[in-house]
Amino acid sequence: MTTPATTQERLSMQGFIDSKPRLKFVFFGGKGGVGKTVLAGAAAVGLAQQGKRVLLASTNPVHSLSGMLNQDVFGKPTPVEGVENLWAYEIDTKDTIERSKQEIREKIEWFLKFADIKGRADEFIETATMNPAFEESAMFENMLDIMFRDEYEMYVFDTAPTANARRLLGMSSVYALWVNKMVQSREEAKQMRLQLSFSKKEEEKDPLMDYLINFRQRMERAKELLTDPELTAFFFVTLPEALPIAVIRRFINWFEEFGIPIGGVIVNMRIDAESVSAEADEFVHNRVKMQAEYMEEIEKLFGPMVRSVLPLYETEVRGVPMLKRLAGQLFA
Ligand SMILES: Nc1ncnc2c1ncn2[C@@H]1O[C@H](COP(=O)(O)OP(=O)(O)O)[C@@H](O)[C@H]1O
Ligand SMILES: [Mg+2]
Repeated sequence: MTTPATTQERLSMQGFIDSKPRLKFVFFGGKGGVGKTVLAGAAAVGLAQQGKRVLLASTNPVHSLSGMLNQDVFGKPTPVEGVENLWAYEIDTKDTIERSKQEIREKIEWFLKFADIKGRADEFIETATMNPAFEESAMFENMLDIMFRDEYEMYVFDTAPTANARRLLGMSSVYALWVNKMVQSREEAKQMRLQLSFSKKEEEKDPLMDYLINFRQRMERAKELLTDPELTAFFFVTLPEALPIAVIRRFINWFEEFGIPIGGVIVNMRIDAESVSAEADEFVHNRVKMQAEYMEEIEKLFGPMVRSVLPLYETEVRGVPMLKRLAGQLFA
């Protein structure tokens, strides 16, 4: 039974965090430019200030954590200056992609030999790795490695790999069926060979099968963690504007469909109407009016899911003091 939105308890960001003492994986999704990176930063700062050991990690090929923190955090988890308990880490994505390519190369070469196909492995490798989905998957794998290593109390990821998480998690059930089927038929073939005494030898090692089984296990584990509402929360960031609202509506539908836990909605860059004087330019007044209308729409669409409404600051959000300020308002 679902509770009607109107009677549902309305939790603030802090209230939500307090209601989830085991919360461990926090993500921010939304349209480009709405403030996902700065909100990941502010959330990480706020949680670290509340005493958790936090890793703020970016698996984006285009990093922005070092810029936001005014500190080089590329390549390894680096203590953030000015915030205890907080580390930040921009993953070297080039390196991961190279390693994944190498892994795939080995598998393809093995397979070509196994299947006695005379062809150049290079062509197959190019086809397998030259698409954007490959890069995306490598990033997703990166994120899983960090999650599975389990060295921090909480992880805040900059930019939810939303499309990917959705695709891979959705795929994993189908995938599990498929791998199970393959393992089963191989077992049967093996049994038959043993019965016919063709060979009493142990089965030869099969790297493709090992890879599939290992991949299935990783996906199952990822699914377990990423769909556990006590451990994981995806927050969706919007502005009081039409397009960003449309984007998060779509995300929220996908996520509900796949059973991925939604932490709530955060509204960013709201202009403080009180601070706008009567003499201000017409476009400012128009924008304030437009925002008020979209705030009503946000209320109608997401009501009890809204955890925080954050003001548009006088400058961009950069540096630890500014992140602390934003954290203060996010968790107010
Ligand atoms: N509340 C805010 N007030 C002022 N500037 C903001 C605010 N939130 C974000 N910004 C700025 O807007 C820009 C986009 O934010 P960013 O976090 O990089 O967005 P995203 O990661 O969603 O693309 C950055 O320059 C950031 O500093
Ligand atoms: Mg960003």
